Amino acid sequence: MICKINQKQKRVSLSTLLPLFIILIYCTTMLLGCADTSDKKIKIGLSMDSLRVERWQKDRDIFKAEAEKLGAEVIVQSADGDPLKQNEQAENMITQGVDVLVVIPEDSVASSQIVESAHAEGIKVIAYDRLIRDSEPDLYISFDNEQVGYLQAEYLLRKKPKGNFFLLGGDPGDNNAQLLREGQLRALQPALDNGNIQLVADGKHWAVGWDPLDALNKAEQVLTLTNNQIDAVVASNDGTAGGVVQALEGQNLAGNVLVSGQDADLEACQRIVKGTQTMTVYKPIRLIATEAAHAAVALAKGETIQKADQTVNNGKIDVPSIILTPIQVDKDNLDEVVIKDGYHSQEDVYKSE
Ligand code: BGC
Repeated sequence: MICKINQKQKRVSLSTLLPLFIILIYCTTMLLGCADTSDKKIKIGLSMDSLRVERWQKDRDIFKAEAEKLGAEVIVQSADGDPLKQNEQAENMITQGVDVLVVIPEDSVASSQIVESAHAEGIKVIAYDRLIRDSEPDLYISFDNEQVGYLQAEYLLRKKPKGNFFLLGGDPGDNNAQLLREGQLRALQPALDNGNIQLVADGKHWAVGWDPLDALNKAEQVLTLTNNQIDAVVASNDGTAGGVVQALEGQNLAGNVLVSGQDADLEACQRIVKGTQTMTVYKPIRLIATEAAHAAVALAKGETIQKADQTVNNGKIDVPSIILTPIQVDKDNLDEVVIKDGYHSQEDVYKSE
């Protein structure tokens, strides 16, 4: 039997089928869409200034391992201390479709471009350890860097309440270097005001790129300039402290001049044991890297970061922040703080003895 469909029947069947068809397509898209979000691995881009200082390798390894444990994939790029390269690498990670960018900026201002590019694609940005200025990062996680500077200078002043102090900062483009200087001056101001201490060597106060070699050169110049009349060097991290100690060794002054630091680098811990570096400031890297990994995954999921219980102004906005506590370390509490925390082994720290 030949079944003939007349025009009316055709219109009826089409008008009943069309909505069903649309519903079918909608449901399939929804299902696929849902499956897509739940199955899709979160992709995190970690954009690093450089890996030169020992700590950054630990930051990278711990962050990556923790994020992977949470089911995310991590792409790491290091810019070898070049801000332009860092911006290019970040653009590249944005193109690769990362869900979140975690940035350790080489330059606190130049990196604002990274935030803008990421936000244009709906990608959240975490400023890791160093603040990104003049932009709207979604989170800042760091240690209290002003307090790090305070702890450095306070310690040296306690040991040497009178004399000539040389302040050697880190890279001037790093927001942390500025905060450290503020903290150092906060500790020293009363002694400067009453004339107990003097600051020497105007204009030699920053180690460009946190470079130990630049620190060595600047320390040598200052020693020449003052005829070796230096009592304490407030070096802003352990790498630059290493350069300073080398300059002091050249004048047979190592151990007689107080030197501060930061990071508890293995070599710095060994110098503290030996007596050529006075102190360092320990910042538990496991803590910051783990917190940052959890925050990155949470931001990728669109969650709010409960632990960001304070804000830090970056010149444009009050950035939600997690600020961790640094610890003063000298030869008396090195074992208790650094070794006990598993940062270095007892054997490695005391190797040179
Ligand atoms: C970090 C220090 C580090 C320095 C050089 C600073 O921003 O806070 O821990 O030693 O950069 O890399």
